[in-house]
Amino acid sequence: MTSPDQSWWRDAVVYQIYPRSFADANNDGTGDVQGMIGKLDHLSRLGVNAVWVSPWYPSPMADGGYDVSDYCDIDPRFGTLADADEFIAGAHARGIRVLIDLVPNHCSVAHPAFRAALAAGPGSPERAMFHFRDGLGFDGAQPPTNGGSLFGGPAWERMVGPDGPEQWYLHMFASEQPDWNWANPAVAALFDDVIRFWFDRGVDGLRVDVADSLAKDMTFPDTPVDPVTGFGTPGFFPGHPWWNQPELETIQRHWREIADGYSGQHLGERIFVCEANVKPLDALIRFVDPGRMHTTFNFDMLWCEWTAGSLRAMIDRNLIAHASVGAPTTWVLGNHDSTRVVTRYGKPETGRPFTLAGPPPEWLGRLADYFSELPTDVGLGRRRARAAALLELALPGPAYIYQGEELGLPEVEDLPADVLDDPSYFRTGGRVRGRDGCRVPLPWSGTTPPYGFGVDANPWLPQPSVWAELSAAAQDGDPTSTLSLYRRALSVRANHPALGDGSLAWSEEYPGSVLAFTREPGFGCVVNLSPDPVDLPAGAELLVASDDLIDGRLPTDAAVWFALR
Ligand code: GLC
Repeated sequence: MTSPDQSWWRDAVVYQIYPRSFADANNDGTGDVQGMIGKLDHLSRLGVNAVWVSPWYPSPMADGGYDVSDYCDIDPRFGTLADADEFIAGAHARGIRVLIDLVPNHCSVAHPAFRAALAAGPGSPERAMFHFRDGLGFDGAQPPTNGGSLFGGPAWERMVGPDGPEQWYLHMFASEQPDWNWANPAVAALFDDVIRFWFDRGVDGLRVDVADSLAKDMTFPDTPVDPVTGFGTPGFFPGHPWWNQPELETIQRHWREIADGYSGQHLGERIFVCEANVKPLDALIRFVDPGRMHTTFNFDMLWCEWTAGSLRAMIDRNLIAHASVGAPTTWVLGNHDSTRVVTRYGKPETGRPFTLAGPPPEWLGRLADYFSELPTDVGLGRRRARAAALLELALPGPAYIYQGEELGLPEVEDLPADVLDDPSYFRTGGRVRGRDGCRVPLPWSGTTPPYGFGVDANPWLPQPSVWAELSAAAQDGDPTSTLSLYRRALSVRANHPALGDGSLAWSEEYPGSVLAFTREPGFGCVVNLSPDPVDLPAGAELLVASDDLIDGRLPTDAAVWFALR
């Protein structure tokens, strides 16, 4: 019999920490683990149940830490393993579980195994840990296939050894991120050790980076290239040799056995959440079949446009698909890879239109960066983002909050080119600005940068001069602030028996441009996406509202939670 504590992950609210940009305790301009420890009380007061920490491992930072050179240590810029232990213990003492990033598709060129592979030469067991190939053409100067990197440019890099140019290696992302060869059992064994290392240290779960790749078709056929961007296409197309290969099932079932071996401990099950963009949804759902992974991110919500029809179709198709395998649906409005929700919803085009069959195919090759071409109305976007937060947190299943969402931070769209750090900016010759705009260090207090992020060091990305009013301190105690809204919503969610895991029933008495649903016992949510104010049901007792009601009516782009007696 599983106790409620065992399956905590079925309705947890998980807060994503991007360590570089969260809090800078040693005042060097980069966030760190001691900074995270110092903000545990903020997280506790916010009311989240868990954190997911983006990579904190030693890394040359070619991709913000997703280029890992040692999976079992902490980057000195962030701290030490002792700091990590202190963070995990401090979080647990507050009832907050800790998920960390597992990056199994690729490592860093600085990883000892890759250095050994370079030194060992063609045909060696060391090279067999990665995907090395001879080039094409009489002198091997052409890459082995046409494969494109997801960050732009080719997915193959040619090595230059002591005797000149030699083999090429595969990297689906930056050239500093060589892909592991998952057909090699030594790679699987290495990651078994990594998973156990962190579970033994008390980590409660792993967010699996690029979980839909890993295994690759070893015949390396040519791959599709996005005609718009020239990038290698992600796993949207069945049959792509790098994505969603059948061997993933074996890997996932094995990892699940490792995690289940830790069950029964006082903080409950150790879990996995997959970062996977597999389409169609029926294929993604296989990841959360019984005995495979616990959860997978639902990026449909992140990309869905702000209309009632698309949102309802997106919600229904995900709830139905996940229920068919007994897994909870996760809800995600943002992360460190996408334009912040305030800014997305402040654009004239707010996301993908959805039907019950999913988004139209012409959207599939588009990038987060697409939004940067459109003008932003931040005020409108924040109103909608506040309403969207109440929608997200009222839906059945776990919800993810990306750091700064609770402060209503917008994307920083005007970062000067000379501070940009995202490899996709460099690998596209500046055609794609990349993801730095959602990674600007958080404002905690004070009226001028660094707003309490550090003491006085310049943060690694500059903060806007207008962020004083968005700092956590400025919002604390202001009942109208986004921070207060999140605190209130999370407190109601924690205490209301209808919220968290379960089901919902749509209320059909509203116009189609209004989302309204109830959950048992006695809970209702209305999100008004219509142009006119709407009434609340008779007898509704207000619990939380994303905006002031006007004469008791809910205005456009606002949401409410209420109790029904
Ligand atoms: C994932 C991460 C992203 C990273 C990429 C390569 O998509 O979320 O930040 O750049 O994997 O590791």
